[in-house]
Formats: sequence, structure tokens, C-alpha cells
Amino acid sequence: MPNSILVGAQWGDEGKGKIIDFLTDEADIVVRSQGGNNAGHTIVIGGEKYVLHLIPSGILRKSKTCVIGNGVVLDPVALVGEIEGLRKRGVKVEKNLLISDTAHLVLPYHQALDGLRENQKGTKKIGTTKRGIGPAYADKASRTGLRTGDLLLPDVLKQKLSQRLKENNALLKSLDAPVLNAKKVITDTLAAAEVLRPFITNTVVFLHQALEKKASILFEGAQGTFLDIDHGTYPYVTSSNTTSGGACTGSGVPPHRIDKVIGVLKAYTTRVGEGPFTTEDDALSDRFHAMGREFGATTGRARRCGWFDAVSTRYSVILNGIDELAITNLDGLDGVESIKLCVAYRLDGKVRDFPPTDSDQLARCQPIYTEMPGWMVSTEKAKKFADLPPKARAYVKKIAELTGAKLSIVSIGPARAQTIRL
Ligand code: GDP
Ligand code: IMO
Ligand code: MG
Repeated sequence: MPNSILVGAQWGDEGKGKIIDFLTDEADIVVRSQGGNNAGHTIVIGGEKYVLHLIPSGILRKSKTCVIGNGVVLDPVALVGEIEGLRKRGVKVEKNLLISDTAHLVLPYHQALDGLRENQKGTKKIGTTKRGIGPAYADKASRTGLRTGDLLLPDVLKQKLSQRLKENNALLKSLDAPVLNAKKVITDTLAAAEVLRPFITNTVVFLHQALEKKASILFEGAQGTFLDIDHGTYPYVTSSNTTSGGACTGSGVPPHRIDKVIGVLKAYTTRVGEGPFTTEDDALSDRFHAMGREFGATTGRARRCGWFDAVSTRYSVILNGIDELAITNLDGLDGVESIKLCVAYRLDGKVRDFPPTDSDQLARCQPIYTEMPGWMVSTEKAKKFADLPPKARAYVKKIAELTGAKLSIVSIGPARAQTIRL
């Protein structure tokens, strides 16, 4: 398999975990390169459901190596919990997991500040996952962060953490927020360091040595294109580069080593948290929620739902350099009589083919829809593309045509087997 970057082409939760698990069969190494445990990637194998937050979705395939790259922000206590949870279910997490020694740590003061800032924003809140992601990336950019490499040196860790706790407790106090028990934070972090130490290494060297041996790498994007700190619907975004470029900076694998970019998208659109969403449709949200679909894998929040948006997805295709599309959740539209696709926006009387970069302007855009007839039968048991009803085939082909990328995978259910390769 060529070295491939897999990105979410919408607002996250496109089904990246499921598609990564499917494609890992053909890859040697799966790499996470950005985000943290704000991610929730669901994989269903033989009726067993796994939700991964920090560990790459390749972990469920034996004999594959998983790497948490330098661009990830890593909550050490949460990661230990995730490792233990997988081990309890019989999943091997040993030498098949490597953690970069330069990934930044998410610590309890980041979570406290994340929650506090959200509460202070009131109606202007972002709707973060409150996992401390924004404050951890802010510390990285401010050059005050602690890194996984610090977990290797208990004395250094203790000294750096004590200093940062002092500073952050002073900050929390000034904001009238409860301060953290420094002793407990240090004890918990040192205990997590003990567990994580064997996994921590220079993953850049590992990846380049693997590339020399012709290993193939699959980069597992987290979040989605419009949550990107530069290209997303700022400020309603996450704090990392979720677009394809982030895979290179977040792993140390240079662009010329990348062969392909795969964009994962739902056959409709969802978003969790606040921010503009042009094709949002309350009736569609109600329909999916009544079916028990579209609840967040990390926070359990109900996702906002809407029609497929070719305007934003087209932008996503050019931003990421998407070569191939993996369309998921086609089965979600099985009983919908008439399906809307947004083909352009209208803003201040003008028709637009690309979304405005300003969130206030985007919030004022009106969708221009075309409609296609629904297929009104179940697609869940289809084994090959020809098994899909003609109207469903026409719909996914239309998505590919409107967005300018090649159709490569169609997913018609959460299970591994419910995946069609074109
Ligand atoms: P990720 O964050 O992109 O990995 O996606 P999530 O796991 O957060 O959310 C995707 C949800 O859709 C999960 O519950 C998956 O099990 C589910 N899923 C993925 N593909 C399909 C599909 O084709 N059909 C159905 N019904 N569910 C799917
Ligand atoms: P996966 O990898 C969907 C959203 C949050 C919020 C914004 C900022 O499962 O697709 P943050 O906690 O990152 O500061 O929150 O980003 N968000 C996600 N939405 N899927 C995700 O990850 C997300 N990770 C963050 O809801 O709107
Ligand atoms: Mg998710």
C-alpha cells in the first residue's frame, strides 16, 4: 500500500476510525500526528465496539505498529487508562505501540483552564471537549509545555511540573477558580510515566528506518478539515492542523514520502460543538437521533446533522489534496425519500462556489440545493458496488463529481465487513 494520509473532510466523526481499521490490513504502520483525546474513533469488529482516543486505530490488527507522533498532545493519565482498557479486552499493547519523545503533555491545569474559559465565554463558547487540548497547544506555542521526553526523567519532570503548577495555580486563583492539588498531580503524572516510559522513543528515526525497509505508513487524521486551526471555521475550531499537511509536521515524515491523500466524509454532514453549519437541518437531526445515531464518541453529545455540503467538501478536496474519497454512513439515508445536496451558497445576493473564510459571513450563507430521489431500501448488506440500488450509486457518484475526487470506498454500516472497495 502506498504511504497515505487519511483526513476527515468535514467537521470530524466522519468514520475515520472505521476506514483506518479497514485499510490497516494493507499497511504496516499507523500514525496519529495531531490532536489528542478530544478524538473518538469507533471501530466495530465482530459485534465488539472499541472507541479509541489517543491510540491509533491500527492497534486492533495484530502485527501492525502504531505510532503516536510528535504533533499529538497527550494526556498521560488518560493514555494509561486507554492502554489498560484495551489490555483488559485482550488487545495487545506492547512493542506494537511507540510514542514520540517530543509530543506535548496535556496536564490537569490545561483541562481546568479549558473548562473555565468555556464557562466564561457563555453563549460565545466553542463547545470544546474540555480535554485541555487548546491550553496544551497554547503552552506548546508559548514554549512553556512539558513533553513526553520529560516523562523519562522523573527528577526533571518533578521540577518542571512543580514550576508550571505554581504558575497555573496562581492563574486559576486570579480567575476565582479552585486550585489544583500539586502533590496529587505530580504523583499521578509520575505513576503514568512509569507505565508509558517503555513506549517513548524517537519516532522520527523509527519511521525513517521503516521507510528505508519499504514499510507502508497510514496516517490517521483526527478531527476534520473545518476544525483546522488555520483553515477551519475559526474560532470554532480545534487547536491543531487537521488538514493533510499536519501529518508531515506532526510525524517528521516529509511531504515527498506521501503518495496519496484519502478524504473520509459522511454521505450527509454532522458537527459537534458550536459554529456555523450551512446545511444544518433540524428534521434530519431528529431523524438520526431517534434512530440512535449521531451521538459523540468522546462526550456523548448529540451531533448536529445536515445535508451533504459540496461547497465545503470541494474546498476540503483542494486544501488537503484529496485523491480518493471514502464515503461513510450511506445507509443513514436509506429511508429518506428526497435527498438534498448543497451545490452552492448564496451570500448577500451573490452565488458562491467556495465558503467564505470568515465565520460570521459563513453563518449568513444560505444553501442552494439540488435534490435527488432516495432509494428507500436497505443498503446495509451490499457486498459490492453493483449491489447498491441504482439511486444510491447515482448519489455517491454525484458527490464525487461535485467535489472533484475519485470514489474509492463506500461504507454502509459500522462493521468491518460493511465496506465496499471500488
Ligand atoms: P471518527 O471520529 O471519524 O472515527 O468517527 P466516530 O467514530 O466518532 O463516528 C462515526 C460513527 O459512525 C461511529 O459510531 C461509527 O461506528 C459509525 N460508522 C462509521 N461508518 C459507518 C457507516 O457506514 N454506517 C453506519 N451506520 N455507521 C458508521
Ligand atoms: P474525531 O477525531 C468532532 C470539536 C469540539 C469543538 C471543537 C474544539 O473523533 O473526529 P477541542 O476539544 O478540540 O478544543 O474542541 O472541536 N472536536 C471534534 N468534533 N470530532 C472530533 O474528533 C473532535 N475533536 C474536537 O466538539 O467543537
Ligand atoms: Mg469521532
